[in-house]
Amino acid sequence: MKKLLFVDCCIRGDVSRTKKLAEAFLSALPEGYAIERVDLGTAEIYPLDRARYFAREKLLDGGKLGDPLFGYAKQLAEADVVLVASPFWDMGIPARLKTYIENVSIAGITFSCDQAGNYEVQGGAHDLSHDPRHGDPRRERNGTGDALPQSDLQILRHRRA
Ligand SMILES: Cc1cc2nc3c(=O)[nH]c(=O)nc-3n(C[C@H](O)[C@H](O)[C@H](O)COP(=O)(O)O)c2cc1C
Repeated sequence: MKKLLFVDCCIRGDVSRTKKLAEAFLSALPEGYAIERVDLGTAEIYPLDRARYFAREKLLDGGKLGDPLFGYAKQLAEADVVLVASPFWDMGIPARLKTYIENVSIAGITFSCDQAGNYEVQGGAHDLSHDPRHGDPRRERNGTGDALPQSDLQILRHRRA
C-alpha cells in the first residue's frame, strides 16, 4: 500500500473549487493508495518567529529530529505521493501554505545538502508538477467565470514506477 499525503490548503473548505478538483483527483486514484490528509485551514502550524526559529535551531543542533516540532516534516517524508491543493491568493500562495512549507523544510528529514552544496530531496515523493490558475471571485460567484475550475493544483508524483 502506498501512502498519499493530501496537503489541503483550500481555506474555503467545501465551497472551494480547488478542493472539488482535488477530491475528484483522489476519487479517481487506482487501488493501493492510503490517503492521509492535512487540513491547513485548521492545522496547528505556526510561522517561524524569532523564538521558534532559535528553538528549532537548538533541536537541530542537538540532532533531536524526533521532536514533535518536526511531525509534519516526518509525515511528508514518509509519503510516496504528495498532492498539494491551494488557490491563488494575492499573487501567490495563501500564507498557511507558506507556513506549512516552513514547517516541513527540515534538513535531515525532507532534504539533505552535501559539502559541495548539492541539495537532494529525501523521502518517497520527488517530481513536482505545478498547474497555477487564478480567477475573478466575483465572476465565479455570479456564474460568469470560466467553465474550468480556476485553481492552483500542485502534484508531487512518485518517481519510481
Ligand atoms: C483572499 C483572496 C485573494 C485572491 N487573490 C487573487 C489574486 O491575486 N489573483 C487572482 O487572479 N485571483 C485571486 N483570488 C481569486 C481566487 O484565486 C479564486 O477565487 C479561486 O477560484 C479561489 O479558489 P477556491 O474556490 O479553491 O477557494 C483571490 C481570492 C481570495 C479569496
